[in-house]
Order: sequence, then C-alpha cells, then structure tokens
Amino acid sequence: MTDALEVCTGPAMRAVRDLIAKVATTNATVLLTGESGVGKEVVARAIHRASPRAGRPLLKINCAALPDELLESELFGHQRGGFTGAYRDKPGKFELAQQGTIMLDEIGEVPLRLQAKLLHVLQDGEFTRVGGERTLQTDVRVLAATNRDLEVEIGRGRFREDLYYRLNVIQIRIPPLRERREEIPGLIDALLAAANAQYGRRVEIGPAVRRRLAEHSWPGNIRELQNVIKRVVVLGGVARLDGELMEPPKVAPAAAPPSAVEPLTGLKQIARRAARDAERLAIADMLERTRWNRTKAARMLQISYKALLYKIVDCGLASPARDKEEDLVATAS
Ligand SMILES: Nc1ncnc2c1ncn2[C@@H]1O[C@H](COP(=O)(O)OP(=O)(O)OP(=O)(O)O)[C@@H](O)[C@H]1O
Ligand SMILES: [Mg+2]
Repeated sequence: MTDALEVCTGPAMRAVRDLIAKVATTNATVLLTGESGVGKEVVARAIHRASPRAGRPLLKINCAALPDELLESELFGHQRGGFTGAYRDKPGKFELAQQGTIMLDEIGEVPLRLQAKLLHVLQDGEFTRVGGERTLQTDVRVLAATNRDLEVEIGRGRFREDLYYRLNVIQIRIPPLRERREEIPGLIDALLAAANAQYGRRVEIGPAVRRRLAEHSWPGNIRELQNVIKRVVVLGGVARLDGELMEPPKVAPAAAPPSAVEPLTGLKQIARRAARDAERLAIADMLERTRWNRTKAARMLQISYKALLYKIVDCGLASPARDKEEDLVATAS
C-alpha cells in the first residue's frame, strides 16, 4: 500500500497528487472530500508520509463509529470518573498523536457539542480531558475526511460554519472512479496482485472480464472494485465473475423470505415483515458504514455482537470477500 497512488496517473488524480505534494510540507489542515471508497484514507496516509511528521504516528479516528461520549474520550481522553465506566485516566488521540497527524474520518458525523471542542483545539491547540480540569497543549496536524457535503450540513444546522472554515483551509476532492476510468486497468493489476498475495492464490483476469470491469459504473468506487477482485480470487477465478459478483453484497440476499411470495393479510404479520425489512436495511447500512466491522456495527445498533451475527445470517446478508475467512473461523468455533 506504500505507493497506492502510483497507479493514479490520470489527469484527475494528477491534480490530487500535486496538491498532496504541496500541502504535505506544511501543517495546514486539509479537508478530504469524495464519495465512499474513492481513497480518502489512502490520500491522508500519503500526506502524512510525505510530511515532516512522517516519523511520528498517524492516528485515525472514525467519528461515525462511536457514540458521543466515547468519541469525546477517544479524541481528548478522560480522567478517572469522568463518566460512568471511566475507571482510570486515559489519554486521547490528541495527546497520543503529539507531533504527528490525526485523521478525523467521517467528520460530518461529529455531534455539535463536540464540534465546539474540536474548533477550540484547532484554533488554540488546547483541550481538556473529559472530567479533567487541566488545560493540555497539543501539536498535531489534522486531516479531516467526509463523504457528506458539509455546506448542506451547515444549512441544516448540523455542522458549525466556523469549524468548516477552520477545516477547509485546503480541500482535496478525490474524484469518483467513473471520472477516472483510465486508471481501472492499473488498479485491477494492483488490486489483483494484493488479493493474490493476501489469499495465497495466483488467479489471473483475462481481457473479456477486464473489459467488463472497465465498463462498470463503480458506485462504490475503488472499494467496490477491490471487493469484486477479492471475491474473484477467493471464490476461484474469473469463471465465477457473473452478474452476481458485480452486485454489492447487500443486494445479494441468501434467499427471499417465504412470506415474500404470499400476500400478507394479518396485521401482525405485516408489521413483523415491515420491521424485519427495516431492520435488514439498517443493519446492511451500518455494516457498510463500518466496513463490516461487526463489533462497531453492533455497538452503534445497540445490540450485542452475538445478536448481530445472528441477524446477519437471518437477514441473508452476505459479507464482502475480505470477511469470508473470518466468517469460516467464526462459524467453526
Ligand atoms: N490508488 C489505490 N490503489 C490501490 N488501492 C486503493 C487505492 N485507493 C484506494 N484503494 C483501496 O480502496 C479502498 C478504499 O479506500 P479508502 O479507504 O481510502 O477510501 P475512503 O474514501 O476513505 O472510503 P470511505 O468513505 O468508505 O471511508 C481501500 O481498501 C484502499 O486500500
Ligand atoms: Mg475512509
């Protein structure tokens, strides 16, 4: 992954690469925008690596994955007793990343109250731990990422305008894959080599399949392409690259529930079915948002990990290829 951007040689990404080179040497806060799966994290890593802070940590925090209170503690740390369950002092990312870089992923999900605290640390380099009184100093470089339109969020009253201007010193918009199709062949090679290495295979992809991959619209961008290639590698070669493989996992349920073919008349049945459908959507959405991190997804859905695993099977949700092996281990044990 060291030179992940090497294959991104087209004109759209050349602009991104130029910007990376320019901002890397500075301490400027950078806002990385772009659809899900375009490579925002890859760009954040490239900036950090090319910066004078490269020898220090790059700490990433997914602001969507934690409830309000835990997110504050992850960012700023807490004092013992700062909240229920805080049994000991714990430093947060802003302390741990001293002289390094913090990537605030999914910044659009930060609750308003914490946005004020973030603004303060960005402006003055100062913060307090949760439940703490001492003001702490920090020297970190902040990279923020979002797939939301923050200006729309400002209009809706969900994002502070002052924080937006603070974060948006420099914005790097990473274009969707459909706007840089010329990179698809190179990406296929790089992702195929990585997947073969990861799974110990030597699968090749022939010209006909490559053409199909080059024509697809890739709404899930590079992550979707990566998942398709991993599935090809794991499931045994290009012969399996049929329509189903191109579909994102959440629209490939194991089987339609029997109720789907019979008209429902009982109110209870109808309610149960609607609840189940809503649940399935919510679970699929959360799994996608957490990239199938089931521990996080369970926490955010406020159900136990075990209950989530049960529901994944029950709802016929197929995990992406990268999880296949873990699943086998999980079900075997
Ligand atoms: N240029 C590239 N070459 C190879 N792999 C890439 C490249 N860009 C992205 N990827 C891979 O694609 C996947 C998605 O990239 P990344 O996580 O950076 O996207 P993202 O924009 O942060 O997505 P999200 O909004 O869903 O968090 C990752 O697994 C990453 O390794
Ligand atoms: Mg990301």
